[in-house]
Amino acid sequence: MDSPDLVPAPRTLTYGGGGGRIALDAGTTLDAGPGTDGVARWMRTAIGAATGLPLPPGGGPRALRLRISGTVERAYGPEGYRLVTGASPAEPAVLIEGGSAAGVFWGAQTLRQLLGPEAYRKAPVVPVGHAWVLPEVTVEDGPRFPWRGLLLDVARHFLPKDDVLRYLDLLAAHKLNVLHLHLTDDQGWRIEIERYPRLTEVGAWRARTKRGHRASPLWDDTPHGGFYTRDDIREIVAYAAERHIRVVPEIDVPGHSQAAIAAYPELGNTDVIDTTTLSVWDTWGVSPNVLAPTDNTLRFYEGVLEEVLDLFPAATSPFVHIGGDECPKDQWKASPAAQARIAELGLSGEDALQSWFVRHFDRWLADRGRRLIGWDEILEGGLAPGAAVSSWRGRAGGVAAAEAGHDVVMCPEQHVYLDHRQDGGPDEPVPIGYVRTLEDVYRFEPVPPGLSPEAAAHILGAQANVWTEVMENRSRVDYQTFPRLAAFAEVVWSTALPAPPARDVAGFARRMTAHYRRLDALGVDYRPPNGPAPWQRRPGVVGRPIEGTPPNV
Ligand code: ACM
Repeated sequence: MDSPDLVPAPRTLTYGGGGGRIALDAGTTLDAGPGTDGVARWMRTAIGAATGLPLPPGGGPRALRLRISGTVERAYGPEGYRLVTGASPAEPAVLIEGGSAAGVFWGAQTLRQLLGPEAYRKAPVVPVGHAWVLPEVTVEDGPRFPWRGLLLDVARHFLPKDDVLRYLDLLAAHKLNVLHLHLTDDQGWRIEIERYPRLTEVGAWRARTKRGHRASPLWDDTPHGGFYTRDDIREIVAYAAERHIRVVPEIDVPGHSQAAIAAYPELGNTDVIDTTTLSVWDTWGVSPNVLAPTDNTLRFYEGVLEEVLDLFPAATSPFVHIGGDECPKDQWKASPAAQARIAELGLSGEDALQSWFVRHFDRWLADRGRRLIGWDEILEGGLAPGAAVSSWRGRAGGVAAAEAGHDVVMCPEQHVYLDHRQDGGPDEPVPIGYVRTLEDVYRFEPVPPGLSPEAAAHILGAQANVWTEVMENRSRVDYQTFPRLAAFAEVVWSTALPAPPARDVAGFARRMTAHYRRLDALGVDYRPPNGPAPWQRRPGVVGRPIEGTPPNV
């Protein structure tokens, strides 16, 4: 039997003594124990659709048995699982025991990999009566980190709801369990807020879009926009929950807010510029137009967040991201109102004013049973007591926060920003940033060297971030995200990985040969190993490649 080439690699995989194979067929039943109904539903819809197997309820030796097991939880954690195929004729054909329903679900993902790439399609491509053959194996597995995330920037380019649901399926297939949705930015506001309809009436679209990096002379004159209705959000959250994925909504303040200011000009620094002249931004970079630090702004965003908390329940969205990145302070420096606020609060300056702003929402969220998370700029001027940090400007912010006892998600731009180009060649579409190949991502280590054990325990995990300035549609997002997300998934899941530089890049590359067939079946428009297909190129669209090796900070 060939190695099943699992991605991400499990802790252990051992072959059964008989070297036998187990076939799933029309007689295979599904025996779902207490708490595993959702996994059974997913198996019938996803694996059932691909295989054509009805998987009716029932026990016995032909069954796929799903169970939650305290023993597995103690050994491998709540997301751990044990998968056994064909142990003996008296046993079920397949047993998946998880430390919780999530563990059973991740075990079901492994089962799907064992069934072959055809199991990733939405309808059978094999003849009726085809036997779905599994190797006789025992897999024991559990994740390295509890936070295994992907950020989708749906603000710069809107990703329609169906594409987000598809990404949830892609995350699940890679045992990733956090979707961070960057819902608001200068270039668009993407979530319906009932009490402030202009956020989407005005803020959810722009008349034209810069094509390529901001230095590019090209414009796309097609209006661009879109937003998620309240029911769209509820659907995304529920779909994620069925896949044991938590959704982190991000409402970015006090910078990256020009779309909101275009909709409600009183949110801006009206004593510095005429904010009624602002529109949703149509180019890239960091807008100087930031929120005014007024009571009106605080009340407005409390209103926004009240609706956000309503749409993203605490059970599946314990963290709420408030951005906090890249807030230029020029308008606050020039604003008599902002300066009066600094004086009134007895603050040391504009950084402290931003910190005051963030602390307000830290308290506000904590009072409502949630946790604030923000980009590492929220460290400047003093970190709010309960805040967690997304460390993006390298690792230093994450190290400082973790040493101070704050939880941290590692997403350093030098390593896991998937908008950065994958190759140095001339055919790479709209090349941005450093060359970060599949192998480079595979060598990423989320826990910075030298961290104390206490601080290392605050590294919740890591996240790959997909910023979409130069990704105008789902195909472009796929191209930048895959295959690198598969390497990232292994980095955050696999406890079997040695620390870099000892990572087995060649072994991973070999397993990727099998994994590309899964991605093909899923319809993922990944970057082929030999470079982009002609239709994946963007000749003439200016990027911003950075030469040399990224600083390992
Ligand atoms: C960021 O990339 N500005 C978080």
